[in-house]
Amino acid sequence: MEDAAPLLDAEAVADLVLLDPLTEESLLQTLQERFRRRDIYTYIGNVVISVNPYQSLPIYTPEKVQEYHECNFFAVKPHIYAIADDAYRSLRDRDRDQCILITGESGAGKTEASKLVMSYVAAVSSKGEEVNKVKEQLLQSNPVLEAFGNAKTARNDNSSRFGKYMDVEFDFKGEPLGGVISNYLLEKSRIVRHVKGERNFHIFYQLLAGGSAQLLQQLKLRQDCGHYGYLNQGTSSLPGMDDAANFRAMQDAMKVIGFSAAEVTALLEVTAVVLKLGNVQLSSSFQASGMEACSIAEPRELQEICELIGLDPGALEQALCSRTVKARDETVLTTLTVPQGYYGRDALAKNIYSRLFDWLVNRINTSIQVKSGEQRKVMGVLDIYGFEIFQDNGFEQFIINYCNEKLQQIFILMTLKEEQEEYVREGIQWTPVEFFDNSIICNLIENSTSGILAMLDEECLRPGVVNEDTFLTKLNQLFATHKHYESKETQNARRVMDTSLPARCFRIHHYAGKVTYNVTGFIEKNNDLLFRDLSQAMWAARHALLRSLFPEGDPQKVSLKLPPTAGFQFKSSVAMLMKNLYSKNPNYIRCIKPNDTKSAMVFTPELVRAQVRYLGLLENVRVRRAGYAFRQLYGPFLQRYKMLSPRTWPRWAGSDREGAEVLLADLAYPKEELAFGHTKIFIRSPRTLFDLERRRQERVAQLVTLIQKMVRGWRCRTQYQLMRKSQILISAWFRGHAQKNRYKQMKRSALILQAYARGWKARRRYRRYFRTSASSFLANFIYRRLVCRYLLGLAKNLPPLSVLDRTWPPAPYKFLGDADQELKSIFYRWKCKKYRDQLPPSRRAQLQAKLCASELFKDKKTLYSKSVQQPFRSDYLGLKQNPKYQKLHAVAKDKVVMADTVRKVNRASGKTVPRLLLLTTEHLVLADPKTAQPKTVLGLGDIHSVSVTRFSDGFLVLHLKEVSTVGAKGDFLLVSDHLIELVARLHQTLEATTGQALTLHITDKFSTRFPKGDVSVTVVESPKAGPDGPICKKKGSHKMEVLVH
Ligand SMILES: Nc1ncnc2c1ncn2[C@@H]1O[C@H](COP(=O)(O)OP(=O)(O)OP(=O)(O)O)[C@@H](O)[C@H]1O
Ligand SMILES: [Mg+2]
Repeated sequence: MEDAAPLLDAEAVADLVLLDPLTEESLLQTLQERFRRRDIYTYIGNVVISVNPYQSLPIYTPEKVQEYHECNFFAVKPHIYAIADDAYRSLRDRDRDQCILITGESGAGKTEASKLVMSYVAAVSSKGEEVNKVKEQLLQSNPVLEAFGNAKTARNDNSSRFGKYMDVEFDFKGEPLGGVISNYLLEKSRIVRHVKGERNFHIFYQLLAGGSAQLLQQLKLRQDCGHYGYLNQGTSSLPGMDDAANFRAMQDAMKVIGFSAAEVTALLEVTAVVLKLGNVQLSSSFQASGMEACSIAEPRELQEICELIGLDPGALEQALCSRTVKARDETVLTTLTVPQGYYGRDALAKNIYSRLFDWLVNRINTSIQVKSGEQRKVMGVLDIYGFEIFQDNGFEQFIINYCNEKLQQIFILMTLKEEQEEYVREGIQWTPVEFFDNSIICNLIENSTSGILAMLDEECLRPGVVNEDTFLTKLNQLFATHKHYESKETQNARRVMDTSLPARCFRIHHYAGKVTYNVTGFIEKNNDLLFRDLSQAMWAARHALLRSLFPEGDPQKVSLKLPPTAGFQFKSSVAMLMKNLYSKNPNYIRCIKPNDTKSAMVFTPELVRAQVRYLGLLENVRVRRAGYAFRQLYGPFLQRYKMLSPRTWPRWAGSDREGAEVLLADLAYPKEELAFGHTKIFIRSPRTLFDLERRRQERVAQLVTLIQKMVRGWRCRTQYQLMRKSQILISAWFRGHAQKNRYKQMKRSALILQAYARGWKARRRYRRYFRTSASSFLANFIYRRLVCRYLLGLAKNLPPLSVLDRTWPPAPYKFLGDADQELKSIFYRWKCKKYRDQLPPSRRAQLQAKLCASELFKDKKTLYSKSVQQPFRSDYLGLKQNPKYQKLHAVAKDKVVMADTVRKVNRASGKTVPRLLLLTTEHLVLADPKTAQPKTVLGLGDIHSVSVTRFSDGFLVLHLKEVSTVGAKGDFLLVSDHLIELVARLHQTLEATTGQALTLHITDKFSTRFPKGDVSVTVVESPKAGPDGPICKKKGSHKMEVLVH
């Protein structure tokens, strides 16, 4: 279990439940000792007692927030953060709405405590832009409300003059979403009057000290507090309070909450109007009728007010100085006396201010309210004015103390009475603890038929003269014997001399002490009436905000019904508050004021003793000690903790109670720690509960791990199974496929084998029918078929018969390639033969001559190529036609082979002379061209050989046989233009006649035989030769050079 050290310091126990001996004295001493040690917080169970240190202590740092956030309630020193943390966790984790009730006298530190709780919750709840904005708005509502609702009193420099209950709303994660503020009865009488030494509401001083010159001018205000009637009744400045800085902080806070600049201005304008109303002075005057009437003494202030609110000054003056009275159907305007006028003015100021305050709270609520409709958890923080006992207590104190009485009642009911009753109800053994039950006092005040408030309302509504005296008399009659009521009359009746009780007063014995109330003003304040003329005047103003504060001023909505009284309103709002608080889980912070002088660390035992007494702390400790810290129905208890025992987890079959018994038996807590009621289980010490919670948390962590483990296992298993299934499916398909393939292959092989085998068997069977020559026969047959097809194809596709066409269809079969080539050449030769056969004899002879020329000269003499295209005409002279050649023709005797002109080279000079040459089948004749007289006639048998050059000249040497018919004339050197034809024809003729071929020399050098001896002829290629034929140059007697080209 937790470290108990901070709780068990004998001298200054942190939890008064552990106090020994338990007496008022020891309790007081403990508080004092702890206070001396600056331990201002002490527990009674889970109730926190806070003693105001009146100095700032270093216990509210962010580190402390963290420390309390992470530890549990009893492990650390008592602190307000601990109770805030406990409430927040319970709200977040157990889904229980919480309320934090902060009680104590004025100045005991309630407001500070509420701010600490709020700031703690803000600090530990989650963060985020939106959440932070909400938190900031909630926190910043404090400076604004404090400026308008707090004032310095004799007891507290920052006393809350209104009650505040704030619901902070959270979502399921514990993030703040927004909130709602409810306010209770602002002490508005302070506007017009306050005791010396006190101040009006802070805002007035803040505005004058902190407002810029421009702002003040705009609001028509002066900086001097003393100038204003409502402020100059007491001290204006406060040591340790910087009004100007607070004003700036308030303005900043308004901005954060979301006030627009126009709203702030309107708010300050109305505030200024209230302040200025106090300066409207009235003076008395007498009317013509002699009646006293009041009028505005100094119109300037009224003028300025009217400028600020946009109203006709005359209308406001009339509303302040006169009153419209309705009598039957008539309306009469009656003038007011000066006191009546002042009363009206003050009532107006108070009403404007209190309605402005309500508007302010509503405006803040619109900013902080939760927009979405999701389910919320609520933490309410109640900071209501503390119990007040003044020298002179009026209606406000009565109301405030009534409220405190009710809160004390809640405390008593929840912690003392209900608890004890529950023990009895549940059959737990219990010795009752005596305590003071204040319901009798509550009843005295609020009883709807005979309570003080009911009497007051009755008195207010009663027709006729109403005043406080009749009211007091009524009370005296009603409560003559009431233990908690006293007045001069009742005391007299009881024959008790009490000088402290003046007339027009009554005294109530509150739980926190006796308070004497002066009834003066009770009726007026309870009625809280504002002359209709004034509300109508305010409604008539153009100032939108001010106008909206007085809806009843609308003449259309005139109602004769009296508005509910202040007392009635307060009672019903307190009743609603109580209902709200009852529905939540309460957490108490009981604030104690240690001294009356606001001094740091001063502890006045007597003062504290009184508070200890009326707060009922001793009884609280007693009940707590004897009682049980925790209780819960068996069902929810078992549900929450059943995982702590294997016998109840995961399901318990029996009854809830048996389950709880079994569970707790397993956990082995000491017997005295537990009690089993009829429907609930009771646990004595919080430590046992904390231990249970700790075990539960550990167990939950284990269970979560187990569930995670199981889920992960399950997920993996199913995943694995799925994979396995898939794998089996895939392999089945794969195997099937492989087997099918294998089967196909085997089948194919088997078929091949079968075919072979069958073939082999068939061949063996049929072998005897086979002929050995069948194959060659077949081959032959096929061969012949192919040849036949080839030849038939060829016959169809024979190329054209033109000799020049050498095309031939390609051979279809390779093996017929040679035959094809052979056929191709046969076909070609055949084509040529056919061509030759159809040639005429002359053409034939011509071609034979050409052929002969070709055989003789092709590739041997350059001239040959030139002669190819020249046709061999044989007769170049026109021998038959020309009569000149008659003689020659006669010589030839029709056997002319060729007739031409040649030039004969002179053997002596080398010059040439033209001669006619005639070749017949028997002779070669050279004749004179002019006479055609044959000069030389050579028998063909005389010609031995012929020499020609290699070149393209027409030079030729006719070598004669040594013995020829012409005698020893020697060789002839001739130049012919048709040398090729001449030699070819000579060759043909010679061959035809003599049967001998002509000997032809194609050479560059040869010798000729002349009668004067041999001459060697050298052929020289020279350009000099020209186109006219070779030039023969005789070089000496035996040499001749023939220049050819
Ligand atoms: N925890 C604290 N630490 C330091 N000073 C504190 C603390 N609580 C209260 N005080 C001082 O006591 C003063 C009065 O406290 P607070 O205003 O909270 O009293 P209250 O109980 O709200 O009184 P009232 O009923 O008049 O509003 C504060 O202004 C502050 O100076
Ligand atoms: Mg306060």
